[in-house]
Amino acid sequence: MTLRNKIVIVTGGNRGIGRAISLAFAQEGAKVIIAARNETKAREVMDDIKKQGSECLFVRTDVSQSEEIHNLVKATLDEFKRIDILVSNAGIISIAPVVDLQEKEWDKIMEVNAKGVFLCCRAVAKQMIKQKSGKIINVSSRLGKVGVPRYAHYCASKAAVMVFSQTLALELAPYGINVNSVAPGIIETDMQRWEWEWDRKVRGMSLEELKDEALATIPLRRMGTPEDVARVVVFLASADADYLTGQSINVTGGMEFR
Ligand SMILES: NC(=O)c1ccc[n+]([C@@H]2O[C@H](COP(=O)([O-])OP(=O)(O)OC[C@H]3O[C@@H](n4cnc5c(N)ncnc54)[C@H](O)[C@@H]3O)[C@@H](O)[C@H]2O)c1
Repeated sequence: MTLRNKIVIVTGGNRGIGRAISLAFAQEGAKVIIAARNETKAREVMDDIKKQGSECLFVRTDVSQSEEIHNLVKATLDEFKRIDILVSNAGIISIAPVVDLQEKEWDKIMEVNAKGVFLCCRAVAKQMIKQKSGKIINVSSRLGKVGVPRYAHYCASKAAVMVFSQTLALELAPYGINVNSVAPGIIETDMQRWEWEWDRKVRGMSLEELKDEALATIPLRRMGTPEDVARVVVFLASADADYLTGQSINVTGGMEFR
């Protein structure tokens, strides 16, 4: 148990990659605060965490609302007195070519994916500066490093997460705080399944064809699992990654070399 008694906040920690991250931290002995909107789903994860003998807390949070982030930090400190690790994982996606992209849709993606990460990091960093320690891991995407047709708004939001994380790493380095991001590739979650469903309808391909198309772009020849990402996040939060900061780690099965 490399993270025994560490206090970790996981945004969107109730589903998909966030769920796997919450469980992986609990397995390492950390106390997990699930910051999410859907309490029912969060309670299911909390039940699993409690079965592992770890403590956890649910704080209803919309990451795009600064007063809710304020409440998240306050609730965490009231209960646990400190924050050792923040994982900004919550995110949303939509698909549209730029010429059809509605201003409202651009704003929504930016509000959650980019502003949500900023708000969480700003609030938690203030506490970590007082502690003179901490690890922040933000979930970006492979699509934050490369443009892909119909994903301009999502790509821009995830590029923002990556460069924001690099900048924050420089600002927080004097306080002994590490900030890194991860850039997952194709990970089988509700989000990915929603994308395939969209492609299936719009491009008229079967799910099997879409999966084959995706697999052909992955040198390791398999989709990623939420646990693949969770293990890298746990590593970045551990003492083994003390000399890593400002990095963006690809968790893609080698996609960027295709
Ligand atoms: N699945 C992939 O292939 C993939 C690839 C690269 C990056 N990512 C990123 O990984 C992260 C997790 O994605 P996932 O695949 O598990 O998707 P998911 O849709 O299964 O989970 C997203 C989580 O974010 C939460 N969330 C969304 N908006 C929120 C808000 N305003 N406030 C609080 N929580 C909110 C959702 O409730 C959910 O818990 C996202 O940031 C996503 O962009 C996913």
